Amino acid sequence: MIKTAISEKVDIIIAGAGLPLDLPSFLNKGSKTKLVPIVSSARAAKIICEKWKTNYDYLPDAVIVEGPKAGGHLGFKEEQIFDKDFCLEKLVPEIVNELRPFEEKYNQLIPLIAAGGIYTGEDIHKILELGASGVQMGTRFVTTEECDASPAFKQSYIDATEKDIEIIRSPVGMPGRAILSSFIEKVRDGKKQPKKCPFKCIKTCDISKSPYCIIIALINALKGNFDHGYAFAGSNAFRATKITTVKELFQSILKEYKATT
Ligand SMILES: Cc1cc2nc3c(=O)[nH]c(=O)nc-3n(C[C@H](O)[C@H](O)[C@H](O)COP(=O)(O)O)c2cc1C
Repeated sequence: MIKTAISEKVDIIIAGAGLPLDLPSFLNKGSKTKLVPIVSSARAAKIICEKWKTNYDYLPDAVIVEGPKAGGHLGFKEEQIFDKDFCLEKLVPEIVNELRPFEEKYNQLIPLIAAGGIYTGEDIHKILELGASGVQMGTRFVTTEECDASPAFKQSYIDATEKDIEIIRSPVGMPGRAILSSFIEKVRDGKKQPKKCPFKCIKTCDISKSPYCIIIALINALKGNFDHGYAFAGSNAFRATKITTVKELFQSILKEYKATT
C-alpha cells in the first residue's frame, strides 16, 4: 500500500498489489483521507464496492483502473497483457457499468480514473468518451525537468526503442514492464542472487527463490545504475524524444486534446 499526501488537508491512500478489502479499517473517525483503490478488472471493482459497503458502510471515493500498457507492476497474468480482451478501452466501460448501480443505490459518485498507455491529449479524449472521469499518467511525465529521477533514468527513456520495452517477472510475483538493461539480461542468464533481504516488504517474495531484491533494483535504477537495476516504464516510453518542463508538457497535451474536439 502506498500513501501519498497531496495536500496539507487531504491524504489519498492508494492500494497496490492484491484486493485491499480492509482498507477502510485504516481510517480514523472524522478523517478527510480519501480511499482510491487500483483495480485491473470490473470484477475487482465490484467486489471492493460490495465488501466495503457491507463491512464498513464505505464506498471508494474514486477507482483507478490500471490497464496492461502501464509501467511498473501489472495486475494481469502474462498471457493477458497483450490480449485485446483485457485492454484499457474494454475495461473502462465494463467498470463504469459495475460502479453505476452502487452510485445510483447510494447516491454517491465514484469517479473512474483510467491509467496505462495514455500518452497524448487524443488518448485522454478517447478514454473520457468511453466513460472515464479522469486519467492517471506516469510515463509521459518521466522525461520532465521536474521528475526527480536521475538524468540517466530519463535518458534511458529517450534512448529506448519499442523493442527495448519488455515484460519482466518481478520477485513480488507479478509481471512488470521495464526497459531492458544489462541487469535484466544477467537475471535471465541466472547470474544474479540476492545476498540479503533488508526490507521484508511483501509476503509473496521468497528470498530463497528470488533472483534479486526489487526495492534495491529500483533504487539503483532511479540513480541511473542499470548494471544493478532497471527502469520501470509504460509501453509508450520509447516515444520520448527530449526533456521538457511539466508546463510545456501540459500545453502540448492540451493542444492535442483540443485538436480532437
Ligand atoms: C517509473 C514508474 C514507476 C511506477 N511506480 C509505481 C508504484 O510504485 N506504485 C504504483 O501503484 N504504480 C506505479 N507506477 C504506475 C503508475 O502509477 C501509472 O499508473 C502508470 O504508469 C500509468 O501508465 P503510463 O505510465 O503508461 O502513463 C509506476 C510507473 C512508472 C512509469
